[in-house]
Amino acid sequence: GGVTTLDPGYKNTGSCESAITFLNGEEGILRYRGYSIEELADKADFLEVAYLLIFGELPTKEELAKFHSDIREQSHVDDDVKKILDGFPKSAHPMGVLSSLTSALVAFNPSSVNVDSEEEMYNAIVRMLAKFPVLTAWAHRKRAGLPLDYGDDSLGYVENFHKMMFHKPNQNYSVDKKVVDALDKLLILHADHEQNCSTSTVRIVGSSHAGLFVSISAGINALWGPLHGGANQAVIEMLEAIKEDGGDTHKFMNKAKDKEDPFRLMGFGHRVYKNFDPRAKIIKKSADEVLTALGIEDPVLDIAKGLEKEALEDSYFVDRKLYPNVDFYSGIIYRALGIPVEMFTPMFALGRLPGWIAQWKEMRQRKEPIGRPRQVYIGENLRSFKPVEKR
Ligand code: CMC
Repeated sequence: GGVTTLDPGYKNTGSCESAITFLNGEEGILRYRGYSIEELADKADFLEVAYLLIFGELPTKEELAKFHSDIREQSHVDDDVKKILDGFPKSAHPMGVLSSLTSALVAFNPSSVNVDSEEEMYNAIVRMLAKFPVLTAWAHRKRAGLPLDYGDDSLGYVENFHKMMFHKPNQNYSVDKKVVDALDKLLILHADHEQNCSTSTVRIVGSSHAGLFVSISAGINALWGPLHGGANQAVIEMLEAIKEDGGDTHKFMNKAKDKEDPFRLMGFGHRVYKNFDPRAKIIKKSADEVLTALGIEDPVLDIAKGLEKEALEDSYFVDRKLYPNVDFYSGIIYRALGIPVEMFTPMFALGRLPGWIAQWKEMRQRKEPIGRPRQVYIGENLRSFKPVEKR
């Protein structure tokens, strides 16, 4: 009963209580389990952050070692999954491939849907964290025409992922530590962001007690859209288009301000941050550092900085409190690390995976009710049926 309050886009509706991520959009504060994003990006590694988000505390040395070894133990993907991947055209967007393969994992791990005991839940989580990097690397390798294989147990979680992405047959693999560190930092910055579109999707799908893997698959699809994680691909494409067009940032600013034109400045604006996005600050600095360290000059970095400067002085953007978000500079780093544009959003998914898992686990453990919003009906009143020959 009662009156339904209308709140399109849930701009003011809290859907749950959560102890995972604290976000203050007015002041640009982001914390995972009470630790500032600045400190975590600087000092932690991605697997530690995953543990922190999912289990609530930073792991001890022993806990981290066990967690990592449990993940390694599960890091094979059934060889038959390669047949499913083979059925996709090479041109398929890897986000669609990834959500499909993530759903398909259920068929190969049917017990993963039972999560009533703590042990079963832990096993499902470990499997998800173990197999997703393999699928992500495979999605890339398929596109790149590289043979599919498995990881290397002797490496760290992120370095192993890097190797699975890039190593070539008959070549020795090595990677600059700076590259792994940059990847680690990017993944940490993406690891959770409270009740964003994909995370809310994971929680709501999971609230029907569908399993973890399919809930994550739904989150991947939600992330794909250009207003959400798909923005990182859209930003680089936009910056390239500005470059191709002669580099006139002002022209594109005007397009973004024109209400008749659907064009938006990709990588700008955020539902919650109305001052700055703390992740964007760290990523901008990191983009400079990574490009310098790797000796790469990317002309789109200058275009991005020019656009940012112009937007921050423009009353349209100032009045609407639009600032660069996490997606504005991340693509420039991904590209410097050799990651192709279509893989940018899959990288976001890999980073967000621990957050999705933590939020799903919290939802299940708190025994939250099934997600089921109400609506305000605006359709026809009762009318009577006319047979087709009388319409
Ligand atoms: N360029 C031009 N105008 C914009 C932009 C933009 N990027 N973002 C918002 N606006 C305008 C919008 O037109 C509206 O103007 P008005 O009040 O005159 O109608 C006003 O600012 C408020 O925007 P909104 O669309 O009502 O805000 P929202 O909270 O519903 O949307 C958003 C937030 C992130 C979807 C939006 O800012 C956007 O589309 N940005 C571009 C896409 C993007 O970068 N997405 C990544 C988000 S961050 C991380 C992630 O989720 O991946």
